[in-house]
Amino acid sequence: MSVTSSLGVFLTKPTTTHRVSFLAMVEAIQATDSDNPFVRHMTENKLDLAALQTAGGWQNYLHKLNQQAKQQVVINGRVPNTTYWLIDATIAETPVVVGRLNIRHFLTPRLRQYFGHLGYIIHPQYRGRGYGKKLLELARSVAKDRVTDLDQHDGQVLLACRAGNQVSLHLLQTAGARFEREVVLPNGEHELLYWLSVAK
Ligand SMILES: CC(C)(COP(=O)(O)OP(=O)(O)OC[C@H]1O[C@@H](n2cnc3c(N)ncnc32)[C@H](O)[C@@H]1OP(=O)(O)O)[C@@H](O)C(=O)NCCC(=O)NCCS
Repeated sequence: MSVTSSLGVFLTKPTTTHRVSFLAMVEAIQATDSDNPFVRHMTENKLDLAALQTAGGWQNYLHKLNQQAKQQVVINGRVPNTTYWLIDATIAETPVVVGRLNIRHFLTPRLRQYFGHLGYIIHPQYRGRGYGKKLLELARSVAKDRVTDLDQHDGQVLLACRAGNQVSLHLLQTAGARFEREVVLPNGEHELLYWLSVAK
């Protein structure tokens, strides 16, 4: 199956409405991609599934995401960033969270060197169905409003991709992203930096 209906597939800011589906995705990602930056994000924020399943833990999480999107300055090394969930409202009785996008609003020297503006992940059970492609397409559109240093980068956002991540590389190349260089992370992993135009 591939994503053919753009109407039923959309990005939304995190809400309690999709909490159960989001938690199912987190569980699947933790089981599949333990070294993914999103899993590290959860760990760094001391957010485990058990905490998110409590009303208080969930509200704290939403509050934290909201604050991170609104902040203007770098706090504890973190730049302002906005999280979106990719929803498919057509594949089940209730909408399914099939992916997550995080947009860092501007680059610090560290983000410029290693990690870029965008981070994204598709629910492991829904990969290979065109959601990654759709997410990137929608990301180009929302990034125009969220990224504040586009003018300094000729209307482009920076993305980092693990050197061996063939699917992600293919996705970036077919989206027309421009390869810049390969970098070695402090942990020895190799990443490839790409610029993707978001200006229309
Ligand atoms: C990378 C990722 C986002 C791709 O999402 P996806 O929904 O599986 O990708 P899509 O189904 O949209 O496919 C994108 C392209 O890759 C191809 N592709 C998908 N799965 C593939 C596979 N297993 N082998 C080869 N090609 C594959 C598709 O055919 C498509 O190419 P096409 O447009 O030429 O047909 C997803 O695999 C993921 O979340 N990976 C873990 C996290 C990650 O790597 N994030 C990106 C960091 S840069």
